[in-house]
Amino acid sequence: MLHLVEHPLIEHKLTLIRRKDTGTKDFRENLNEIAGLMAYEITRDLPVRQIQIETPMEKCPSYELSRSIVLIPILRAGLGMVDGISSLIPTVKVGHVGMYRNHRTLEPENYYAKFPGNIKDAVVMVLDPMLATGGSASSTIETLKKEDASIIKLVCIVGAPEGVQRIENDHPDVDIYLASLDRGLNENGYIVPGLGDAGDRIFGTK
Ligand code: PRP
Ligand code: URA
Repeated sequence: MLHLVEHPLIEHKLTLIRRKDTGTKDFRENLNEIAGLMAYEITRDLPVRQIQIETPMEKCPSYELSRSIVLIPILRAGLGMVDGISSLIPTVKVGHVGMYRNHRTLEPENYYAKFPGNIKDAVVMVLDPMLATGGSASSTIETLKKEDASIIKLVCIVGAPEGVQRIENDHPDVDIYLASLDRGLNENGYIVPGLGDAGDRIFGTK
């Protein structure tokens, strides 16, 4: 199921990262801030358990998160969302999936995977700013399911309808979160209007 996370602050920051004149520093900062703002919505259904605590005044029932949370940034660009979310949920564990799109075939090529030990029982959030054809995200989710992850959320910033359709077909059990659903893909598989190559803009490699 697709969740569009709409908020005036997210829209404003999205404008900043879409602009072609925005430099690496501002791009990186605003991308992380959008991810942090999205975290409020992404975590809305996290399970909590009731515990007894003691305030300076008296004992009372209160709540704490009952499942651990694992972030899985898809390298490279997903790294640009980790700080924004982990600043709000400092107990997260972070795994990594290394994946790049073959520029000719647009198929994802997997070059690295390392996960924390608890992904089976955790809420796992796959992070990637761009959901284009959906190949990279679908392949990452497939890898996580092979590791017995069962609660998986896909968190992207900008998506194309083609990518959303791909995830809904391949992984109907996975909730998709986007700050914007854009018009589509161009002939090179880039999202339009999009924001260009997210990895290059985060790391200043072009
Ligand atoms: C980009 C992006 C996604 C993928 C999206 O990564 O960060 O991982 O493309 O495309 P898809 O939905 O069609 O699979 P890229 O391959 O450019 O690697 P990078 O992050 O190392 O730049
Ligand atoms: N990857 C990107 O970084 N940008 C796109 O528009 C598509 C894939």
